[in-house]
Formats: sequence, C-alpha cells, structure tokens
Amino acid sequence: MTATDARLLLRGLAQLATPSGDGAPLRGAALGEVEVLEDAFVLCADDTIEAVGRMRDLPALDGDVRELDCRGLCAVPGLVDCHTHAAFGGDRVDEFSLRAGGASYEELHAAGGGILSTVRATRAAGETGMRTAVELHCSWMLREGTTTFEAKSGYGLDRDTELASLRAIREAGGIPTWLGAHAVPPEFADADGYLDFALAEVLPEAAKLAEAADVFLERGAFDAAQARRYLEACRDAGLGLRLHGDQFTESGAIPLAVELEARSVDHLEATGEEGTRLLAASGVVGVLLPASALFLDRPMPPARALVDAGAAVALATDFNPGSAFCESLPLVCSLAATQLHLSPAEALAACTVNAAHVLRRADRIGRLAPGYRADVALLEAPDWRYLAYHLGGHVVARLVVGGELR
Ligand code: NIG
Ligand code: FE
Repeated sequence: MTATDARLLLRGLAQLATPSGDGAPLRGAALGEVEVLEDAFVLCADDTIEAVGRMRDLPALDGDVRELDCRGLCAVPGLVDCHTHAAFGGDRVDEFSLRAGGASYEELHAAGGGILSTVRATRAAGETGMRTAVELHCSWMLREGTTTFEAKSGYGLDRDTELASLRAIREAGGIPTWLGAHAVPPEFADADGYLDFALAEVLPEAAKLAEAADVFLERGAFDAAQARRYLEACRDAGLGLRLHGDQFTESGAIPLAVELEARSVDHLEATGEEGTRLLAASGVVGVLLPASALFLDRPMPPARALVDAGAAVALATDFNPGSAFCESLPLVCSLAATQLHLSPAEALAACTVNAAHVLRRADRIGRLAPGYRADVALLEAPDWRYLAYHLGGHVVARLVVGGELR
C-alpha cells in the first residue's frame, strides 16, 4: 500500500486544539498557549500527520482518501499517560473499603497490606495472567483517549515477575519502566539486602527491556541514600531516571532528582517552597497525579506554585490498584482545573507534549502538526475545553492511533 492509498482525512472538526510551538518541555506562559483552529481538518498519511488547517484552506486531494465527517467533534492530540502501574494482578477493593471506614494507606502498607498484597497477587498471576491484565488495562486507557502509555513493573520484586511485567508492558505497546525499588519484599530483612539482590540479579536483564528506572523514595519504603544507590546503578546501566517523591513526606527526592538529572520526580503532594524553587530551576519535570491525591484523600500537589515558579509539569493518572484506580486522563484534566487550578490549556499541554517529553518522544507525539504521529483524540464536544469541563463524562468519542481509526 502506498502512502497515498493510506490517507485519512478528518474533516469539518468543530475545533482542533494543540499545544503551540515545537519545543519541549513547555513551562511558564508557554504551557498555557494552545493553538485553536475552528472548522478544521487533519490529514493523515500512513502513521503520520501530513497537514492540519481550516476547511477553507483544504487543498484538492488526489488519489484515494478515506474521509471521516467530524461535525460536532473536536480534535486534540492523542493523550499521553507518562505514569501508570498497569502491570498488576488482583485488586485492592477490600482495602479500599477499609480505607472508606477510616484506615490509612500508610497503616495498611505497614501492616503488610498495600503494595505487598498486590505483590502476592501479581506473583500468583504468572506470565500469562500478567499479559492478560496489562492488555485489559491498556484497553481501558485507550477508551479514555490515551494513545501512548508508560507502565512500571514493581509488583513482582523477584527476578522472574519483574521481567515478565516489563515484557508484558512492551507486548501491549507500552513504554516500560523498571520500578525495582517499590517496596521491600517479605523474603528480605531490609532494603539494603533487597537492593543487593535487585541490582545484581535483575538490573542486567531489566536494563534490556525498560527505558527508565523508578524508585519510591518515602518513609517506610527507600531512603535517599538507598534511592541514590539504586538510581546511580540504573543510570550506569543506561536507563533514564524517575522518582516517586514527596508523596507523604519531603525526604530529599527533589534535590536527588536534580543532582542526578532525572527525567521526572512524580507525586509532590508534600513539596514545600524550597522544593518548588529547586525543581523550577531545573530540567526535571514534576509529574502531578491528582487522581492519587483524591483517591487517598491527601492534599493536592502545589501545582499552581510550581507552574508560576517556572517548573515544567506533566499530568498523569498513576493508574494502580491501591492509590489511584483510575485510567482516565480526561478526569485528571478535570481535577487539574478544579483542584490544581491549572487552565484547560495548561492541563492539555501537561498530558500531551510535556508527558511525551518525560518519555523522550516529544519530537513525534503530543502535538497535532505535520510530521507528528497521527494520534488524535476526537472529543464529543463543541469546544475542546470539554476535555476538562465534562467531569467524569465519556468525552472521547473516537480515536486515531498511528493513522488508524478506532
Ligand atoms: O504511585 N506510592 C507508590 N506507588 C504507587 C502506589 C502503589 C500501590 O498502592 O499499589 C503510587 O501511588
Ligand atoms: Fe506511581
């Protein structure tokens, strides 16, 4: 099939909205600059966007072109979820009910529940169960407009299950991150002993499958010295670096992330003024996870202060069975507007171009412009800002993924 045979025209869009410019990450005023075209089209050739524009400027097209009438729909870039934990077995619905009755997430974790209960279920699922689970979770994300997703391991914490998780993520089309330092599994007496094992036995293989490594730097998980040891070894093995930091306490995640030039530090619910200043002056992206703060009834991260200080921020779901059983980036955009006080334009950039930057793909995804991958979310809405405005609504009507209509 030639490129001309495989053209797809999205015509008559009520609006097309895309983060402006061509750089990444966006920060400051640029984060809120969205280009909006009324009565617009998107022309895709194979898996790439050939042209976007207003209908009145649509040139005559030769050859076979498949057309989709997009009246009543708005186009935004396919959404990019740069932080999920989609590789897990079982669920935590019992724990959720206990939390509804007043038990805290940290108490459940300290009592051997929480992450460790998902570790038991994930180990029991086996490689086939893991593949089935990741595919299911991936289909849920797609339904909500996510055309690119990152997913972490971290619920195996033994060699075979960690590697099976990374393989399952890759096979489902996800971008795998090795979260080898998520919790200390029960067969190890302490974090240092577990890290001796993980770095010697798992890292060499994980580095062949994953693009980045992640660590949970928190009271009750890994401290700053342990996180440094883990991240330096992962960096030396060629992996990009990410951190779960400042979720419950400020334990040194931002200074470490800045020093090691990590790709991102994620959560930040407990970040104070000094951390905000330090992050803003760095190249590290702050990944905000408001669905997790909501699900755990925790304070929201200081998003407005971060953006106003000039930090590069991204938004993600944190989809996982314990702290954020939520795969919807449109819902996250709503929370960004109502809880984080970001504008719909800032929210859009944060879960497209800036999320793509965290995944080192901002030259190819996250914008609707010629040369970018033909990933388009078509919103059932007269105005693209319904992405954030329609709280919990089913706003994504159709998707184009790599030039194919879904
Ligand atoms: O990002 N905080 C650490 N890890 C996950 C939650 C993991 C879980 O509760 O299963 C998070 O919130
Ligand atoms: Fe997470």
